[in-house]
Amino acid sequence: MFSIVRSLDHLRKQILSWRNEGLSVGLVPTMGALHSGHMALVSRSLEACDRTLVTLFINPQQFCEGEDFEDYPRDEQKDAKKLKTAGAHFLFVPKFEEIYPNGFSTGVRVSGLSDLLEGVHRPGFFDSVATIVIKLLNQTAADRAFFGEKDYQQLMVIKRMAHDLDITTVIEGVETVREDDGLALSSRNIYLSEKERQTAATLYKTLVAVAKHVKEGNEVAAQEDWGRKKLLNAGFSSVDYFSILDAETLLPCIDASRVKRVLAAAKLGRTRLIDNVQA
Ligand code: PAJ
Repeated sequence: MFSIVRSLDHLRKQILSWRNEGLSVGLVPTMGALHSGHMALVSRSLEACDRTLVTLFINPQQFCEGEDFEDYPRDEQKDAKKLKTAGAHFLFVPKFEEIYPNGFSTGVRVSGLSDLLEGVHRPGFFDSVATIVIKLLNQTAADRAFFGEKDYQQLMVIKRMAHDLDITTVIEGVETVREDDGLALSSRNIYLSEKERQTAATLYKTLVAVAKHVKEGNEVAAQEDWGRKKLLNAGFSSVDYFSILDAETLLPCIDASRVKRVLAAAKLGRTRLIDNVQA
């Protein structure tokens, strides 16, 4: 049983009937153009919950000026086919008005965590993500919701928001799915030229090398510098950040014994890639 739903009313009726049957609901929010990274979240939801609900909404509010909202890949039919084959139960494709009713004027902001890294380069991005995600959590009242570690800062922002606002949905992170050479799958990889695609794998390789050096006790600031230079030498046109931070707070590491995360964003021509690994 797989269906596509476009109205909130219909969605709520379906969820209510699942609840009445005592079935648990897993939520996988996406912007479509589904690849194996998204499908790993779906698999995890199918494993952990009785019913899996995927949402497809290309949220215009989270695209900054000059970003690719108009060009963002869209193929609902192909996405639906993949989800049906995987065994997902429901695809919710809300209309714009369903998410942003006329006069919409409310937003959620997770301060601190939203202002670093991606937040510096994409002002307001996490406010828009937090607002759409809390809406989806409220609309579905899912038992669990699944987000990729690929967007590690996004995952941390959502976890913080859910904790602070007493959301009972369990927020679960899912490991990044990668190509054979380590490049993290992303809907935007299609923008890479053949040559850029080859260079792109250096991002993951550099993150892994830096994580290893940090675990061996090398100094954090020197490793950030080493990583940045390595990317520029490999052919990246610019590096927005290359940071080694506390994995939970994303603040500078003070306590050496705590788990760390190495996070980077860099541009290859017109494509901006982000990735991260644990250290
Ligand atoms: P989107 O970019 O479509 O990603 C949907 C989910 O898939 C996110 O949780 C993202 O982290 C995860 N994902 C993407 N690539 C992945 C990979 N290679 N491995 C594992 N997971 C991966 O992220 C968004 O949409 C939006 O911000 C959204 C949360 C839907 C709010 O609009």
